[in-house]
Amino acid sequence: CGIVGYIGQHDTKEILLNGLEKLEYRGYDSAGIAVLNDEDIDLYKVKGRIAALRKRVNDTALSTMGIGHTRWATHGEPSAENAHPHQSATGRFVLVHNGVIENYQELKRDYLNGVAFGSETDTEVIVQLVEKNYEQYQDTAEAFRQTVSLLKGSYAIGLIDKEDQDTIYVAKNKSPLLVGLGDGFNVVASDAMATLKETDQYLEIYDQEVVLVNRHFVEVQKLNGAVVNRRPFTAQIDVSDTEKGTYSHFMLKEIDEQPFVMRRIIQEYQDEHDQLKLDQDIRGAMKACDRIYIIAAGTSYHAGLVGKQFLEKMAGIPVEVHVASEFSYNMPLLSEKPLFVFISQSGETADSRSVLVKIKEMGHPALTMTNVPGSTLSREADYTLHLHAGPEIAVASTKAYTAQIAVLAILAVDTAQAKDLELDFDPMQELAIVANAMEVLTDQKEAIETLVRENLGTTRNAFFIGRGTDYFVCLEGALKLKEISYIQAEGFAGGELKHGTIALIEDGTPVIALATQENVNYAIRSNVQEVVARGANDMVFSMKGLEQDTDAFVVRHVHELLTPLVSVVPMQLLAYYAALHRDCDVDKPRNLAKSVTVE
Ligand code: G6P
Repeated sequence: CGIVGYIGQHDTKEILLNGLEKLEYRGYDSAGIAVLNDEDIDLYKVKGRIAALRKRVNDTALSTMGIGHTRWATHGEPSAENAHPHQSATGRFVLVHNGVIENYQELKRDYLNGVAFGSETDTEVIVQLVEKNYEQYQDTAEAFRQTVSLLKGSYAIGLIDKEDQDTIYVAKNKSPLLVGLGDGFNVVASDAMATLKETDQYLEIYDQEVVLVNRHFVEVQKLNGAVVNRRPFTAQIDVSDTEKGTYSHFMLKEIDEQPFVMRRIIQEYQDEHDQLKLDQDIRGAMKACDRIYIIAAGTSYHAGLVGKQFLEKMAGIPVEVHVASEFSYNMPLLSEKPLFVFISQSGETADSRSVLVKIKEMGHPALTMTNVPGSTLSREADYTLHLHAGPEIAVASTKAYTAQIAVLAILAVDTAQAKDLELDFDPMQELAIVANAMEVLTDQKEAIETLVRENLGTTRNAFFIGRGTDYFVCLEGALKLKEISYIQAEGFAGGELKHGTIALIEDGTPVIALATQENVNYAIRSNVQEVVARGANDMVFSMKGLEQDTDAFVVRHVHELLTPLVSVVPMQLLAYYAALHRDCDVDKPRNLAKSVTVE
């Protein structure tokens, strides 16, 4: 979910709607805004997208403060009733919330007996509790602090009080939240991207802090009311990076940006003598550990699988790659000197954060690789490596995946150098070759579109097979296809398909095979024959030098460790065109959110 708030001199409705549009990647099943008009609160809520909310907001009266929310449902189905903002029983208080209140049922039972609820959400409990506490304390700030002290779980909250034209009350725990500073106005947002048009000056808010946001000042407090002083930082995001420009979809723009991202990474991680430039402390941590635990979710997990190859083969460190949500509740036996590497585009994924909190309590060091340096995972880890991919807006991750792999390669080489290991691999030169190969691919969109039209037209399922590194790319290719086109797709290790899943192959079932690894080229070709013999419609994506006449598509030759950076591009494009041909919402697929801040 995403929240936004504004208090200033201008009309707030457009500012809130614009902000919510920028936050839509965080969830988009329902949305709402509340604005204060003279003495009353106007509430607009809809099921569906911000575009639908925009149509509903027809009021022309000036309102100079308000809060808004775009939702990814956790408690309660997507509906106008369950959309935020939520209102207290008398209508005096309205509130938006991102996160999950774990003890909401206890709070309801212990404090709110007899109160009539209008929704099924955990969020409504908070606003009802504020009203209840107000009866006791007769002071909104105190009632707010008292309420927040009772909450267990994750939250970023914005509250307005009908009787107070001068304050938005804000609180945070585990869910991201920033307060933006302006001249005669201030803003609140889950992500600076939402309010970048208003200001680039932001205050970080830490867990268990509340903030009173006025037009002319901002006061950060601890839960006991003690005031905290904090300096703002400048958000380093270019507004144009957050717009689609001439593209019809962010996903296509982001696929096309990948060669530039590779070149930017080369620049950022190279010093003036063309040597790798990494933080000495990171080097030290990499040298000191006896095993690396990569923790990630979704696409970032798939990048971690590729990274394991680099770190083991080049830096000689054993690596385990774990899905964050599993590791969190089922920790394996750890080595003596583990180093945890969190890979996360957003730096906000709650499943990964839950692991980070646990391993920090155990005293282990942590490095976060993220596209958002000020994010929670970045702040709370000991070290950060920046991905430099630029804002990624489409829900399906593309350029962040390739950036993660490139930075993992750089990290592996840097560690190898620090350990004086023999290495015949110049990462910057190899990444430059990759960037060129990617560019060739992004110019071949028509060929991929034709493949989609001819082979994935009306299919209900598809299989991806590959061996070694190709297998990991198959997992990512299948994820891309299913998340945006809703074709049921699975990635398999080429040799494993015959141990069960081959039963699903029928006449015409599409099987996409990757063949970029010389040592398994013969073996994967045999697996292709096995499925073709059972009626499958094969599409082989091979690398120059390993190709056969019948291959559907050949990518340029790159270093064999870096092939995922290249072979994934046609997989991304396959998914894109499959979704486009099925009239799916490419950038905002159903049921998903880009940044999942709940466990
Ligand atoms: C969500 C997104 C995925 C992403 C995953 C991990 O599920 O829809 O695209 O891979 O979260 O996100 P992170 O920001 O931690 O990389």
